[in-house]
Amino acid sequence: MAQLGVNIDHVATVRQARRTYEPDPIWAAALAELGGADGITVHLREDRRHIQDRDLRLLRETVTVKLNLELALADEVLAIACDVKPCQATIVPENRHEVTTEGGLDVLGNEAKLQAAIGRLKAQGIVVSLFLDPDARQIETGARLGADAVELHTGQYALAAGKAQQAELVKLTQAGKQIVDLGMVLHAGHGLTYRNVRPIATIPQMCELNIGHSIVARSIMVGFQTAVREMKDLIA
Ligand code: PXP
Repeated sequence: MAQLGVNIDHVATVRQARRTYEPDPIWAAALAELGGADGITVHLREDRRHIQDRDLRLLRETVTVKLNLELALADEVLAIACDVKPCQATIVPENRHEVTTEGGLDVLGNEAKLQAAIGRLKAQGIVVSLFLDPDARQIETGARLGADAVELHTGQYALAAGKAQQAELVKLTQAGKQIVDLGMVLHAGHGLTYRNVRPIATIPQMCELNIGHSIVARSIMVGFQTAVREMKDLIA
């Protein structure tokens, strides 16, 4: 069964809307663990629009499941990652004007920089995952650069409907096989919801799903612990 990494960025988004102290993502992480989360994921963005440095440091001390840090290929956050040492780092593209991460990382255009970053993170004992589109060339290059895992970007699947969604699922399944055949661990995430998660959770050898917005949205209605438990049950 795929593990559930709960992305708590949007708990911090609500806090930052008022630049206050609540709701605290540290509380949300504890409740997510009580709800059965296998991991906690946060994205320390260069613009600090939601998660703050203080959050990351406190989560490192308090989270007892896997802590996965999403980060851009930027020196400042790479240095923080190497200092804080989360269990896993997921390298993502970042653009200041985007509402959320818009697509997979372009590995082909960034090989030297990426190889250096992967080396730096791995030297600190951090597992390195790359957030990639289901694109054979990107995946093959990611493997060559030494990534331990690939998180497949499920955004296109999430946006599509009917036959187009089936076609996206086929692409993700084929990419998943390639990732595993190349010796990497298979993760997926972005845009996954209570309605669309099941087919993704059943892709062979799916190891980890990172889900944020849909869980935080539901938690407003049913509470964080319950929202996480309901997603865990669907994945199972
Ligand atoms: N995985 C990655 C790499 C992401 O950047 C995000 C969004 O921060 C997610 C998963 C979670 O996406 P969502 O909030 O749509 O569930």
